[in-house]
Amino acid sequence: MRVYQNVLEMIGETPMVKVSHIDTGPCELYLKLENLNPGGSIKDRIAVSMIEAAEQAGKLKPGMTIIEATAGNTGLGLALVAASKGYPLQIVMPDKMSAEKVNNLKAMGAEVVQTRSDVQKGHPEYYQDMAARMAQENGYFYVNQFANEANVTAHYETTGPEIWQQMQGDLDAFVCGVGSGGTLTGIGRYLRKQNTAIDLVLADPEGSILEPLVNRNETVEAGSWLAEGIGEDFIPDICDIKLANKAYAVSDKEGFHTARELLVKEGVMVGSSSGTLIAAALRYCREQTEAKRVVTLACDTGNRYLSKLYNDEWMAAQNLLEE
Ligand SMILES: Cc1ncc(COP(=O)(O)O)c(C=O)c1O
Repeated sequence: MRVYQNVLEMIGETPMVKVSHIDTGPCELYLKLENLNPGGSIKDRIAVSMIEAAEQAGKLKPGMTIIEATAGNTGLGLALVAASKGYPLQIVMPDKMSAEKVNNLKAMGAEVVQTRSDVQKGHPEYYQDMAARMAQENGYFYVNQFANEANVTAHYETTGPEIWQQMQGDLDAFVCGVGSGGTLTGIGRYLRKQNTAIDLVLADPEGSILEPLVNRNETVEAGSWLAEGIGEDFIPDICDIKLANKAYAVSDKEGFHTARELLVKEGVMVGSSSGTLIAAALRYCREQTEAKRVVTLACDTGNRYLSKLYNDEWMAAQNLLEE
């Protein structure tokens, strides 16, 4: 077995596991376990690539403070990289994100500013606007995963090829969500290059603007949802949303219960965005009339949501528990 020289070497090359105790209709559904990255999420991959690209471009110099707007996981990935390279890290995150993520970030030495979850792009207290402003005022390096091409590159060069190899070139559909759009754009482009017929399916929280856009070319006002890290009120610069040829809107209730079911039946503990992805993947699988091979992601570890979706009191308070 391989011995690693440092924790950053352990990012990527994550296992793929078949869903074997939940009804997948005529299809086979596989989960790529990105929760097993050392920082606990798929975002470790982009943290490394975005920091290294900035160093190479001379935008990030030794000792400079790194700042990022994040639902938490990109922050945790950046905290791993920043600690190993000696950069101070400032995180701006919306206040709906779990306490576990905030405490984990602080324990890793990051400074965390929480801002409003109920405002949209263009508002001074929106997390991305706040991070951009703080970067400008203080001379920090703003990573900006939403407009950073190295985010897409990480998935085009690593996650996409790993999926293709693990499926041995036999894949009919890939299901993912959009937070920054890095996974959809990077993995989607890679997979379509291998096989133009692959379905790229968007899993979107109810309330996000993306599902109406993909399915009906409809522009709607954004609502709100509890799933963390996916769903949008705007289309990020790096997101090639046209890649998605089908979308499912998933309620918080359906997504959260799917995550709980996955833990009980398959022994895989994932977070709220993965619950949304898997719920959409299951709907896609059950709708098919022919056997298809489908992949989706376990984006992050469910340990980050013990106070939320895995907590009956919290679920009851949100009216999400089944009668
Ligand atoms: C938990 C989680 N899942 C999924 C995503 C979405 O991935 P992407 O940013 O590549 O669209 C994010 C992004 O913020 C996330 O934090």
